[in-house]
Amino acid sequence: MHLLKMSDLKKADIDGLIERAVYIKGRLKRGILYSPLKTRTLGLIFEKPSTRTRVSFECAMMQLGGSTVFVSSADSQLGRGEPIKDTARVMSGYVDGVVIRTFGHERVEEFARYSSVPVINGLTDLHHPCQVLADIMTVVERKGSYGGIKVAWIGDGNNVANSWIEAAGILGFELVLACPVGYEPQKDVLRGAGKSVKLGRTVEEAAKDADVLNTDVWASMGQEGEREKRLKAFRGYQINAKVLRLAKKDAVVMHCLPAHRDEEITDDVIEGPNSAVWQEAENRLHVQKAVLERLLGDK
Ligand code: CP
Ligand code: NVA
Repeated sequence: MHLLKMSDLKKADIDGLIERAVYIKGRLKRGILYSPLKTRTLGLIFEKPSTRTRVSFECAMMQLGGSTVFVSSADSQLGRGEPIKDTARVMSGYVDGVVIRTFGHERVEEFARYSSVPVINGLTDLHHPCQVLADIMTVVERKGSYGGIKVAWIGDGNNVANSWIEAAGILGFELVLACPVGYEPQKDVLRGAGKSVKLGRTVEEAAKDADVLNTDVWASMGQEGEREKRLKAFRGYQINAKVLRLAKKDAVVMHCLPAHRDEEITDDVIEGPNSAVWQEAENRLHVQKAVLERLLGDK
């Protein structure tokens, strides 16, 4: 089994992973050691920078008793143009699973087609499923459940947004997006999600009575050249105190990080009492352990 996008999972899979992650987190906090992946090695192939994804996967494997091998395109033959399908066949002869972070989603799909071991998407231009699993876990911890909640997505219809859209379609909660014209999420992803997802236009429409306010950077990795254009296009698509007041009093503010303060989110909101961003980042570790246990553990 591979985890390339949220729609590779069914509702029962997501519920099971989150329940397991909460359990694993509780045991870790009580200092209970647990090493089910003692003989396993995870390969990490990164063609874009990372702090959270790399460190949380490396720590997760170490804490589960396994080990990791980190490969960046800059210092491997990938950077010199070795085909992804060759890399997949070679790497999967050494390791028990692979996390890949890259640009085109089709690169991860191609890797998975040629890999004999499970492949986990650590972010592509189209999807970021590990992030959204951690986000949903955070919602469950903060709100008790995702059932009946309204989630607002304000800003770019990017990879994280696409994974949230798929999650809303699978789990059935309400998701309202406010994206500037020309920066909407993928049409087929939106279509696939069905009635629980709505593409609004205004920030007010999305934020009104929301239980969760969510945003991400205006220019993702690989879009640095569009930065000036995007700064203009996204003006107003910001989570700030005024937008927070439109949401429910106990609304949770989320951001996958890294954040650009005073662009997509203001400093007072990200540092304020509604912010769940640090818990959200920590939960990457716990939920990815549940994923690793499932994909790399004894069957
Ligand atoms: N949120 C996230 O994936 O962060 P990194 O880019 O630091 O891995
Ligand atoms: N949308 C952002 C997420 C970073 C974790 C990017 O792709 O750069």
